[in-house]
Amino acid sequence: MEGPMTDTLAIRGGKPVREKPFPSWPCFGDREEKRLLDALRSGVWGKMQGTEVKQFERTFAAYHEAKHALGVVNGTVALRIALIAAGIEAGDEVIVPPYTFMATASAVVEANATPVFADIDLETSNIDPACIEAAVTPRTKALIVVHLGGLPCDMDAIMDLAARHNLVVIEDACHAHGAEYQGRRVGAIGHLGCFSFQSSKNVTSGEGGIIVTNDDRLAEACWSLHNCGRVPEGKWYEHHILGGNYRMGELQGALLNAQWERFEEQAGRRERNGRHLAEHLGAIPGIHPQKRTADCTRHGYHLFALRMDPAVFGTSREVFLEALQAEGIPAAAGYPIPLYREPLFTNRAFGPYTGCLSERPDLDFSRVRCPQCETLSTVQGVWVHQPNLLAEQEDMDDIVAALRKIYECRDQLAGPLAEKSSSGDGRIGRGPVHTQRRASAVSREKT
Ligand SMILES: Cc1ncc(COP(=O)(O)O)c(C=O)c1O
Repeated sequence: MEGPMTDTLAIRGGKPVREKPFPSWPCFGDREEKRLLDALRSGVWGKMQGTEVKQFERTFAAYHEAKHALGVVNGTVALRIALIAAGIEAGDEVIVPPYTFMATASAVVEANATPVFADIDLETSNIDPACIEAAVTPRTKALIVVHLGGLPCDMDAIMDLAARHNLVVIEDACHAHGAEYQGRRVGAIGHLGCFSFQSSKNVTSGEGGIIVTNDDRLAEACWSLHNCGRVPEGKWYEHHILGGNYRMGELQGALLNAQWERFEEQAGRRERNGRHLAEHLGAIPGIHPQKRTADCTRHGYHLFALRMDPAVFGTSREVFLEALQAEGIPAAAGYPIPLYREPLFTNRAFGPYTGCLSERPDLDFSRVRCPQCETLSTVQGVWVHQPNLLAEQEDMDDIVAALRKIYECRDQLAGPLAEKSSSGDGRIGRGPVHTQRRASAVSREKT
């Protein structure tokens, strides 16, 4: 076996562990073409008259053992509709995690309510039920939990505390298609669940979203909100509440019906590769894969999330990432700051949505502190995105080998790095990551 110190890191001019690209995303082929062309040629492109979105809604509801699924324009709107359907209004507080995409919290502002940030558990990246409990006030009406990267949150504890405090639970399952908690598919465990089909997601139609629920009353409210305030038995020009046109279109529905046929195979592959990575990466000092809880019977693996310990590597996460990318492994820092530090919140730039400010003029997001999230966001978090998990097991072994090499050669991380590439993409070096990013532009795949 090669002695560890004979290696040279790729950022120091050594041979990269990997020069092949990983799979590109999205995957599509003849079935998408046929389904889209059939929908196009039908001339029925709107949801209300069409069959594609309705079929996808039925499929998605059945898959989640949910009574209802409602196709909408995107995941952000799904969250906002869910909040308004749940009766959230000005003055109400909604507890959210700070380690998530902006929409989880901005949807609360757009529902005219106040987001209250509760810290995460550093090991799982998911909201910590103890922090939720500590954040509850008499104004709290709901909480949004995010299954980060596809790892289910601690839903038993969350549903229990929600019942005790009479709170509505909305699952932000935008990362968690097909993820299971104790054998139950996430999204249909809380009162409402929201999914995204935006272009990076594990099931995609470019843009799109869906709301699932088992509650007839909530389903009807969501339907009205996404359909201009109409009621199911009402006339076309009869509007009962303030809604909007948030309906998913038929071409997206057609694409989703075709993509869905690929989903189980892809989800199984991600699960196998994610488990393999977690097992082998866990043996490398200073690398901590997201902790998989016993309740997680299937991980959604939108992300393979891990933490790197700067003390062990003797360098920052940013230098570590440059080293990893130079070895041919695409990886990113994830959400780089807690949401409450975004200018939207520090400047309270809420536009016309003044509900939270008129009720809480003292609200100062610059005073919020969620230490676990701050560590993960700004110091330790590393993500490998889902398309990479669609490769073969031997490709996962390249990821393991690259991280092991960086650990073993960690003394080479010290000292200045080469000049930034003139390509202007803000990354150092000209390693295979650039080639790979070009190579992974959209291409046809048959998975
Ligand atoms: C956790 C999370 N919530 C909400 C959203 C919003 O979904 P969309 O982009 O479809 O509006 C996303 C995705 O972008 C997300 O990752």
